[in-house]
This record gives sequence, structure tokens and C-alpha cells, in this order.
Amino acid sequence: MTEIKLGIAGLGTVAQGVLALIRRNGALMAQRSGVTLRVVRIASRREKPGVDLMGAQFSTDLDDLVSDPDVDVILELIGGEGVALDLIRRALASNTPVVTANKAVLAAHGNELMSGPGKQQLRFEASVAGAIPIIQGMSGGLAANRLDSLFGIINGTCNYIFGEMESNGTPFDEVLAEAQRLGYAEADPSFDIDGVDAAHKLTILLALGFTGEYDLSAVHIEGIRHVTVADIQFAKELGYKIKHLGIIQNTAAGVEARVHCALVPSNALLANVNGVMNAVQIISDGAGETLFSGPGAGGEATASAVLSDALALGKQFSTGNGIGVDTQASETTQAPSPAILPMAEVTSANYLRIPTLDQPGVFAQVTQALSEFSISIDAAIQHEASASQPVVDIVLLTNNVVESAMNAALERLQGLDIVAADIVRLRVAPAL
Ligand SMILES: NC(=O)c1ccc[n+]([C@@H]2O[C@H](COP(=O)([O-])OP(=O)(O)OC[C@H]3O[C@@H](n4cnc5c(N)ncnc54)[C@H](OP(=O)(O)O)[C@@H]3O)[C@@H](O)[C@H]2O)c1
Repeated sequence: MTEIKLGIAGLGTVAQGVLALIRRNGALMAQRSGVTLRVVRIASRREKPGVDLMGAQFSTDLDDLVSDPDVDVILELIGGEGVALDLIRRALASNTPVVTANKAVLAAHGNELMSGPGKQQLRFEASVAGAIPIIQGMSGGLAANRLDSLFGIINGTCNYIFGEMESNGTPFDEVLAEAQRLGYAEADPSFDIDGVDAAHKLTILLALGFTGEYDLSAVHIEGIRHVTVADIQFAKELGYKIKHLGIIQNTAAGVEARVHCALVPSNALLANVNGVMNAVQIISDGAGETLFSGPGAGGEATASAVLSDALALGKQFSTGNGIGVDTQASETTQAPSPAILPMAEVTSANYLRIPTLDQPGVFAQVTQALSEFSISIDAAIQHEASASQPVVDIVLLTNNVVESAMNAALERLQGLDIVAADIVRLRVAPAL
């Protein structure tokens, strides 16, 4: 039996989940893995009355985690880039392995952390999609494959909001307020609903499976604020659901990396991932289509992934290999990084909702404007105007169009006198 002495940074949702899981399943973990996890030290901003620290020493100084020779592995469960980055750097420099759930720090500093001293001692299963073992799945289970594409519902807040808008017809602002009340959305929700959180996670998946580079700037980022209940209903009429997706595609022209709303066929697996659940679908040359799904957040769900990393490190200790032989970090090193395809060159079909004045000839003006950019229409919906609804939505699905042409056409359409308000444009997901 190998004993791993843990030092935990932070005492919030995930750290408390870690303590709860070790308390409940510690013996089971030891029996199955041959590794006993013992929490010897916790450092956080303040102690929490009522939280059982399991006999660990508490301090408010994060340095204590690095300087304590008793700590074998540090769990960084603070988040953000400031003190968390500093702690990870110092721990790795002093040869102490780190397990982190922190996607923000990896998206911004992954290249440095994976190439500096102690690079092979950083594990991060919990940083993407909470409980889902997607990092081990990609770097281990699918290691023999060339990955062709990845589609992920990797932000539970966005997925919850769309689900509520769809099932209850509740407007975005009201659903968001309710999500905040229930704890599904932060007081400042912008990280989630503007797509930044999903982009952090996609950056990690991009590095791990496709490019070997942690480059947040390579990811095109859009959020969900512009989507209305009307769009969700029109999409349904056309046979689709609207999801906020992370998409990576290996194409002949380069690698696409983007997070944005997308229309997904209603019968696709990802269309039926509901509420705060996450899912990642990967298409690879040998394994074909694989789907990983599960809770993307929550104290114990995230702790499950954190502790899988701690146990993996413990198993390395026990085989006498020491730390740093068979890790996630070492598996990201590969051949020269393939080029990222600029967003302007990405091709997709598009959903357009064009609010127009109720006048004769409007539809013809819209189709004429699109044809100037060689864009054709695959499907259309136009409901009748009513006295209470003088503005009529024309809803279109276009053929596959390169992004630069679509953007130019949108500018032209928006300038037409008959267009009464902002056009909503959503991309259709590539074949799923
Ligand atoms: N929550 C989830 O479901 C989830 C899922 C996946 C990944 N993650 C990631 O897991 C990490 C932790 O998330 P969380 O939800 O547990 O966050 P949290 O509940 O806000 O906990 C963060 C902890 O760090 C402490 N802390 C903050 N700044 C500090 C500082 N300067 N010095 C010392 N301690 C400090 C906080 O102290 P106070 O107690 O005083 O606030 C708190 O105990 C983040 O990287 C997050 O992205 C979370």
C-alpha cells in the first residue's frame, strides 16, 4: 500500500467535495488502487466552521503547502490565474506534483507549465467537463487514433439556460436570474454566457488532442446572449435544437477551433444532453464515434476527477517510477503543430432570423441580397403578420457558406430598409 500525503489549496466547493469523497470512499480507493490518500495540510483564505478537515493542519499561507516536506502532492483548488498560477509554478519548481481543476490557468499558461521544470508533474482531469474522464479518455483511451473532430457541450450553465428557454418558453434574462438563484450560474455570469469558460476548456482539448499548443487566441469565441425563445422555436420547426458547442475539426486547410451557438439536429446524441450535463463527442480514425457524458460541475463530481489524478500519481509512486513518467503532460508532446484555420475561412450552413417590415416584395429583396454573395436558401419559414405583430420574421437556412462571405452578406442585409431590427445569425453544426 502506498500512502500519498495531500496538501489542498482552497476550501471551496471542489475542495470540500474532495474531503467528502476521501472520507466516504478512502478505504474503497485504497482497496482498488493500492493507494491511501491522506490530507495532511490545507491552506486557504479562511477556515470554514463546520467543515471537517480530517485532521489536516490549516493555515492561511499557501507557501506552507510548498515548504511542508510532508506534502507529496498539492491539489490546487483555488482557481483563476493569480495566486493559483504562482502556487503551481512554485510547487513544480520544487518538484512537488500538482493536480489542478483550473482551466483558466491552463488555457493561458499551459505552454509554460507543460514545458518548464516539473512539466510532467501537472495533472488536470477536472479542468474540462467536471466528472467526465475526458482528459484520460483522449490522452489514454484514444491515444492510438488520429482525432478528426470533437464536438462538446462543455458549459452546463449555457445548456441549462437553453433547456429552460425551450421547455418553458421563459426569456433568457429570467432564466439567467433563476439559474443564479439556484447556484447554476455565477453572480457575474459573463465567463459562462459569453463563451469564455467553454473556450478555456476547448483550448485544453485542442492542445491535448490536436495541436500540442495551449493557445486561447486560436479559439473563436461567441456566447449565448443573442438567442431568443423565438429562435429556439424556429429551430425546432426546422428540426433542430440550439446548443452552445465547442467545435474542433481537423480539415485539409487547417484545424478549426470555435465555441458558439449551433443548430444541432434534434435526433443527434448531443441534442439530447440536457440541463447542466456536459458531453463530448469525438470522431477518430480507428475508434470511430465516441461519446463521453456526465456531470460537468459540482463539488463531488469534480472531486471525483481530481482524486483520479491523485490516485494515478500514487500508482506511479508505487511502481517505483517516481513521478513524471506516464503523465498527461508528456502525452501532449507531438509533431509540429498543425495550422489553425482562421475563422473567416471556416465554412458552415447558417440559420438567419431577419425581422422585416410587413410589406410586399420583402422576401424577394432578401433572397436577391443573398444571391449577390452566391448564397442559396435550403429552407425558409415566414409566418403571417398580425395587427399586434407588424414586424415579420423571415427565417432561413442557407447552404454551406464560407464565413467571410456570410459576414459580408449579413452586413448587406442589415442595411436594407425593410430590415426592422438586428438579424440573428446562428451556424448549423457540421454533420454530427
Ligand atoms: N465548482 C465546480 O463545479 C467546478 C467544476 C470544475 C472545475 N472547477 C474549478 O475548480 C477550482 C475551484 O472551484 P470552486 O468552485 O471550488 O471555487 P470556490 O468555491 O470559489 O473555492 C475557491 C477556494 O479558494 C479560496 N481562495 C480564493 N482566493 C484565495 C487566495 N488568494 N488565497 C487563498 N485561498 C483563496 C476561497 O476562499 P474563500 O472560502 O474565502 O472564498 C475558496 O475556499 C476552479 O479552478 C474552478 O474553475 C470547479
